[in-house]
Amino acid sequence: MLWLLELNLFALITVLLMQHRIQQRLQQQHAHQRYRQRPLLTGPQSTQTTLGQQAVVNFSANDYLGLANHPKVIHALQQGAEKWGVGAGAAHLVSGHLSPHEDLEQALASLTNRPRALLFSTGYMANLAVISSLMEKTDTALHDRLNHASLLDGGRLAGCRFLRYQHVDMDHLQ
Ligand SMILES: Cc1ncc(COP(=O)(O)O)c(C=O)c1O
Repeated sequence: MLWLLELNLFALITVLLMQHRIQQRLQQQHAHQRYRQRPLLTGPQSTQTTLGQQAVVNFSANDYLGLANHPKVIHALQQGAEKWGVGAGAAHLVSGHLSPHEDLEQALASLTNRPRALLFSTGYMANLAVISSLMEKTDTALHDRLNHASLLDGGRLAGCRFLRYQHVDMDHLQ
């Protein structure tokens, strides 16, 4: 019984310490004006969208080709969901590689005139996979200071050394 009490006390102290740490970090983020919140879009992703009640022009998205809200893409997605459901169920290497994925990879490889293509669900995942596969501990990655976090994290995962230079400053790089 005593050990159970000690365990609960230990768990309680751990939770309180964690809460304290989280509060401190949140305060730091506020103090440095680095506290971030997710803008809530109340209309579909597009060049013009709705943020809360306000109509806005969206300059911050990566949907450069306007595919996120394209009628043909929406239709294809609806048809795909009817036929294939809405989840692969597992990682591709286990049992989640469906024939529409394979067809798309082959179509992209042929479109870009390459022997194979490999799809990732986000750019972040693609950069992590490519960099951590290609780089080794003995390699050095040179990073523009404003490089996307996924490029830095890929290098971290590979365990390689990295040096950062000022944004587009070739003199600093040299
Ligand atoms: C160079 C670069 N890599 C990776 C990403 C991350 O892509 P995603 O949002 O699909 O994870 C971005 C997003 O802006 C990017 O600009």
